[in-house]
Amino acid sequence: MNIKMKHALALATLAITSGVTMAGISATKHNLSSTQPDATNNQVTDTAEICVFCHTPHGANTGVTAPLWNKNLPSASQYSVYSTANSSTIDGQTLTVGSVSAACLSCHDGTQAMDSMVNEPGSGADTIASFTWTGTRQTNGQLNGTTIANLGADLTNDHPIGIQYCGGGYTDDGSGASTGSCTDTDFKAPVNDTINGSLVWWVDTTVGTASQREKTDMILYSRDFDQDDGAGGTIARKGPSVECASCHDPHVEAKDTTEVAFLRVSQSGSGVCLACHTK
Ligand code: HEC
Ligand code: HEC
Ligand code: HEC
Ligand code: HEC
Repeated sequence: MNIKMKHALALATLAITSGVTMAGISATKHNLSSTQPDATNNQVTDTAEICVFCHTPHGANTGVTAPLWNKNLPSASQYSVYSTANSSTIDGQTLTVGSVSAACLSCHDGTQAMDSMVNEPGSGADTIASFTWTGTRQTNGQLNGTTIANLGADLTNDHPIGIQYCGGGYTDDGSGASTGSCTDTDFKAPVNDTINGSLVWWVDTTVGTASQREKTDMILYSRDFDQDDGAGGTIARKGPSVECASCHDPHVEAKDTTEVAFLRVSQSGSGVCLACHTK
């Protein structure tokens, strides 16, 4: 057996043993290019590039905590978020829309054309004067009212995002060390680890290797919170936050043949919900 074949075999074994469908992004609704296989899905006729609708290798928007982001972000002030106004049982601090959630909402709030990019395909920034869209769930490249994927700017009817995990959770005392503990027993304790000098958090799922951060774990995103100092004041601390991509992996649409919603783990038996909530 040559090396290439061995490699292929190893990958095939990995795909089978991990139980995850490795279909790739091209067969998903996040393929907005002309290579989109399902003609009813939203797509353009002008480029066959897939990643470019979200990422660029050069000149990316560094104002967002999503890697090599190729879009401008909506302003946080236009959103209303799920908070104590919607629920009297909420424990965690709610932040304004930011982090990776802002990146998702740069398409999913329906206010910005999905072909609006920092760096369009080809040479130079603005190479395609106007994109031609097909698919009924968009109007001039903006998600329209016929799709539930258009969340709008009112996020009070959506699972909280920019929400502190576990009513306090673990926080970074500024030295990269964790402090505080998981104070809410309604939640699975998050794992925290230092990767390249930064404290990072996630909730381990039963999929994959224990205590190792993987795409099939619920990823928590580091944001700035004001922690109660117990004496009427607050201390500025980094802490774990639930964002859109905590539950969703935008590249992998299906965990099994019936599920399509880009979830990190299967939602069978409410697996996504029970990954964090102990109910
Ligand atoms: C619809 C938008 C979208 C498209 C299209 C997309 N990505 Fe992403 N990608 C994201 C977002 C959002 C994140 C951050 C997700 C997170 O925090 O886990 C990300 C993260 C990544 C990362 C780092 C984290 C990881 O999951 O490995 C890599 C590498 C990446 N994308 C590569 C690609 C490549 C290559 C393509 C094209 C084949 C692509 N992406 C297409 C939205 C997209
Ligand atoms: C470049 C634009 C764009 C970005 C950025 C983007 N999406 Fe999407 N997303 C779409 C489109 C288009 C659809 C298909 C909508 C439809 O056909 O109803 C979609 C569909 C979805 C769906 C539903 C899939 C299905 O099969 O019904 C989920 C879940 C989703 N996106 C999550 C996310 C998350 C989470 C992020 C950020 C991590 C993100 N998206 C970023 C464009 C985008
Ligand atoms: C706490 C977990 C969680 C968070 C956070 C979350 N989602 Fe979801 N989302 C889900 C689950 C679970 C589903 C699948 C629901 C179903 O099976 O009908 C879903 C479905 C969707 C769909 C498809 C809706 C449909 O019925 O067609 C879109 C689009 C979507 N999410 C986008 C987002 C965006 C954008 C954000 C951030 C603003 C986000 N989600 C935050 C868990 C989450
Ligand atoms: C990544 C972890 C995570 C996942 C996955 C998750 N949640 Fe949550 N959820 C939270 C956090 C954190 C809060 C905020 C709770 C608080 O501060 O009181 C929350 C809040 C809620 C609330 C509001 C509670 C209140 O007191 O108002 C409901 C209801 C809820 N989640 C249901 C779900 C459902 C249903 C699912 C699956 C579709 C789900 N959650 C998946 C972390 C998660």
